[in-house]
Amino acid sequence: MSDLRQQLEKLRDDGLAEIAAAADAAALDAVRVKYLGRKGAVQAAFEKLPTLPKEERPAFGALANQAREALAAALNDRKTAFEAGARKSGPKLDLTLPGRGTTVGRPHPITQIIDEVVHIFGRMGFAVADGPDIETEYYNFDALNTPAEHPARDIQDTFYLEGSGKRQGASGQSNRLLLRTHTSPVQVHVMEKQPPPVRVVVPGRCYRRDEIDATHHVNFHQFEGLYVDRNVSVANLKGDCEFFFKQLLGPETRVRFRPHFFPFTEPSFEIDLNSPMLRSRGKEWLEIAGCGMVNPRVFEYVGYDPEQWTGYAFGMGVERIAMVLYGIDDIRLFYENDLRFLRQF
Ligand code: DAH
Repeated sequence: MSDLRQQLEKLRDDGLAEIAAAADAAALDAVRVKYLGRKGAVQAAFEKLPTLPKEERPAFGALANQAREALAAALNDRKTAFEAGARKSGPKLDLTLPGRGTTVGRPHPITQIIDEVVHIFGRMGFAVADGPDIETEYYNFDALNTPAEHPARDIQDTFYLEGSGKRQGASGQSNRLLLRTHTSPVQVHVMEKQPPPVRVVVPGRCYRRDEIDATHHVNFHQFEGLYVDRNVSVANLKGDCEFFFKQLLGPETRVRFRPHFFPFTEPSFEIDLNSPMLRSRGKEWLEIAGCGMVNPRVFEYVGYDPEQWTGYAFGMGVERIAMVLYGIDDIRLFYENDLRFLRQF
């Protein structure tokens, strides 16, 4: 036994010395395998146990355990030290290399315009609201007084989500899921959630099955405005819109209201713009927005009393505004992610 004990102590001391001498993490691992591996020295010592007289086994076993623990602890310490060292050294700094330039990114021009729009309306007391891109037919059409036979609801004009054909609305009508065709459904969400008065702008992405060309895309941005209070009138609508456009595009911007039809406003108008930028490009008036006085039917859908409350609403195309502001004549440029284009803004 004393022979074996000596062997074991020597094994432990040799191991500790080799651990201390290991030059790097790989050498250290080799030492670990040699001593603590499945076929290592410590395991070999344990395998001698059954050859010993019964009464000597516990003492020898305890000694072998101690050796194993001492080696494992030393290995672990050394490993931690190597790792810390590796973190500290890393690649050397070469001061003779030319510096690496950093490019500063910037918001996309569409985002820049949305930020500006939100800022201007913010000064006019409008909060920002948000709604889902995936809507139900109810919010995109029904609650906006847009009946089932309206052309906008046609499968040719709107992206419906597959498999949503059997959804039923509360009153049993079809309530398929679709990609919203305008930001107007957020009017309904906002009014369902809060009592009047309301003053919100709603920037967001919209989708239509349009043929893609220089002025149409299947995905584009709008922002919606909604102002509900007592005694809101067309004069408020006109004044606020004119103020907004002059703030955004300059004091020489002119705004024209043309009678139009939208199911969710009555009366309704389209807004045309005329600005120095447009004139310099040989254009006269550009249709930029739809608007009107909120149809009392819409108030009924959201539970507002149309006898007490009136409101105006508008929806404008962000890409259209960007094109006027920057003199861009192809909407597709906004979505091609060509940095030579985007870096100009
Ligand atoms: N949602 C309409 C569209 O996309 C635009 C619009 C017209 C919005 C009149 C309004 C509105 O809020 O009152 O063509």
